[in-house]
Amino acid sequence: MNYRHAFHAGNFADVTKHLALVAILQHLAKKAAGFAVVDTHAGSGNYDLSSDQARRTGEAEAGVKRLEGLAGGNAALTAYLTLALSGPYYPGSPLIAAKMLRPQDRLVAIEKHPEDGATLKAELRPFLRARVEEGDGYRRLLALLPPPERRGLVLIDPPYESPAEFAEATQAFAAAYRRFATGTYMIWFPIKSEAEANGFCGEVMASGATKLIRLDTRLASAGEGKLSAAGLLIVNPPWQLKTALGEALALVAPLMGAVAHLEVLAG
Ligand SMILES: C[S@@+](CC[C@H](N)C(=O)[O-])C[C@H]1O[C@@H](n2cnc3c(N)ncnc32)[C@H](O)[C@@H]1O
Repeated sequence: MNYRHAFHAGNFADVTKHLALVAILQHLAKKAAGFAVVDTHAGSGNYDLSSDQARRTGEAEAGVKRLEGLAGGNAALTAYLTLALSGPYYPGSPLIAAKMLRPQDRLVAIEKHPEDGATLKAELRPFLRARVEEGDGYRRLLALLPPPERRGLVLIDPPYESPAEFAEATQAFAAAYRRFATGTYMIWFPIKSEAEANGFCGEVMASGATKLIRLDTRLASAGEGKLSAAGLLIVNPPWQLKTALGEALALVAPLMGAVAHLEVLAG
């Protein structure tokens, strides 16, 4: 396990993923009934964008930092900008979710890397409705589904260090979906090859998802050897999510030199 998210926190892919996360959680919070969030690959939760790691790649500089000064936009964008830009650090998915929980909601964040897991535990300690588990997110996910609340979001955001991760993520989604078919799922993936990405989306569709949106974000130019495109599959997207994300991305993507494309794959 060599991947460390600190090198990539706040990059274009994080921005679109976290914007979608905020929009989905805002939607879940429209009903009084509580919801559960399971973050299978949570990271360390909070990232110092002035650290050596962040400065070495410059990815946040070309990503979230470009949004400073952006005003207006819809509710999802406003909430995301407040979360992303109000502190000295950039919040990862578990911290964003923890900050958006109401007293009736719950977060389980799973992280395999012991150091990142320990940092995450410290970050989430103030949030009584958030729990961190150190271990394998895929394995733990099945034990946590269906959530007693019967409403919620599963975020599957692995590092894709090995090509086998696409198959592992598909299998984990398929098994999770069999247990909790009404949940919303966000599955992040890198686009290094169009064929690989399309094949992955096809496999996720074939595993039973009947409502599915694909969001691709592509950089006009990326540094040598750097990730230049990323995708997000959203299964069972909330009503009007596509519209809300489309509006927000129309403002955000050009600032990062990116083009975002949303497509309904099913439903
Ligand atoms: C892309 S990062 C997560 C970023 C985070 N979701 C966010 O948006 O802020 C992937 C994380 O998964 C962790 N990881 C790798 N394999 C894992 C596994 N099998 N189970 C849980 N975590 C894992 C890595 O240590 C890394 O912190």
